[in-house]
Amino acid sequence: MVVLGIESSCDETAAALVADDRRILADTIFAQIAEHTPFGGVVPEIAARAHLDHLDETIAAAMRQADMKFADVDAVAVTGGPGLIGGVIVGVMMAKAIALAHKKPFIAVNHLEGHALTARLTDDVAFPYLLLLVSGGHCQLLVVEDVGRYQRLGATIDDAAGEAFDKAAKLMGLGFPGGPAVAAAAAQATNPVRDLPRPMKGRDDCNFSFSGLKTALRQRVEAMRAADAFDDATRANLAAGFQAAVVDCLIDRTRHALEIARAAHPRLSALVVAGGVAANQHLRGALQQLATRYDLPIVAPPPRLCTDNAAMIAWAGIERLRRGETSGFDYAPRPRWPLDSTAPALAGAGVKA
Ligand code: KG4
Ligand code: ZN
Repeated sequence: MVVLGIESSCDETAAALVADDRRILADTIFAQIAEHTPFGGVVPEIAARAHLDHLDETIAAAMRQADMKFADVDAVAVTGGPGLIGGVIVGVMMAKAIALAHKKPFIAVNHLEGHALTARLTDDVAFPYLLLLVSGGHCQLLVVEDVGRYQRLGATIDDAAGEAFDKAAKLMGLGFPGGPAVAAAAAQATNPVRDLPRPMKGRDDCNFSFSGLKTALRQRVEAMRAADAFDDATRANLAAGFQAAVVDCLIDRTRHALEIARAAHPRLSALVVAGGVAANQHLRGALQQLATRYDLPIVAPPPRLCTDNAAMIAWAGIERLRRGETSGFDYAPRPRWPLDSTAPALAGAGVKA
């Protein structure tokens, strides 16, 4: 089975062809960085229009890469939510049109499920596993028990971790996207700032919060600017301090989640990390140490498959289709779509589900 996957829920316009034996036959991404850079963040209406402008060509490029025609495809999978709704609508309409015209099954998949199951595409990880999902739009800890069975142990109550990196970079004048910019500045630090707060650390739930850390950083930056002391060296030291604080919070919350997950699932197979922030080398190193302490393998898919992409959507589609599931052509795009519908709703900018 070969599935065409389409992703357009944030600022990546992406298409991929994936086979059910875990081969990625094509994987194309048009990243809208230039469109959003002047604003220092993703502007939903600009994103929706850019998806409309680029999705045709992105899909055509994927078909060329795999040297396939629509007739060769067995089904069309698309992100049906959660995400920026204009973009989700563009993708869903496109997927329905292709499926209808070529008489193929259509399946709308949850974007978060795409991230959650990527480790099965890349590393064939067995259920159950603990997933730390950290990106610009999501920050959650989930036990992935099976396809469609997720237990959310914690999530952010305000900003997502990647969003915090992006806002910190903007505050320090480091550019967009913020994560790689903060990491690059941090690498130049000679004396990292050590006393930034670690919100939620030690709490006995598994939730995250980054807004207090961001406020503390803003106060530092403003004070230094006022004292005319905000030079490159100071900026690097602040960036390193900020990065260390975020990593510390993520590790503390993940450690707590591991305890809970292990108690409930003694046969936990791995600690999996996904999402754009998983590209952060400090985080990867710290997670590796944590997993070793719990005698678990750590699975971190390559950065290209950690950030938003369509291969993960095609793969989630395959996992669902293999179970005989499809969606109807009356499927309605969803701005919010929690993976764990039993978990209480959380209100916050970084919470799409
Ligand atoms: O998964 P992704 O591409 O898109 C969303 O679904 O949000 O994640 C993008 C996020 C951005 O916030 C970006 O700043 C962050 O991932 N990011 C990083 C790094 N690379 C990307 N954060 C920290 N360190 C990095 N090296
Ligand atoms: Zn994502």
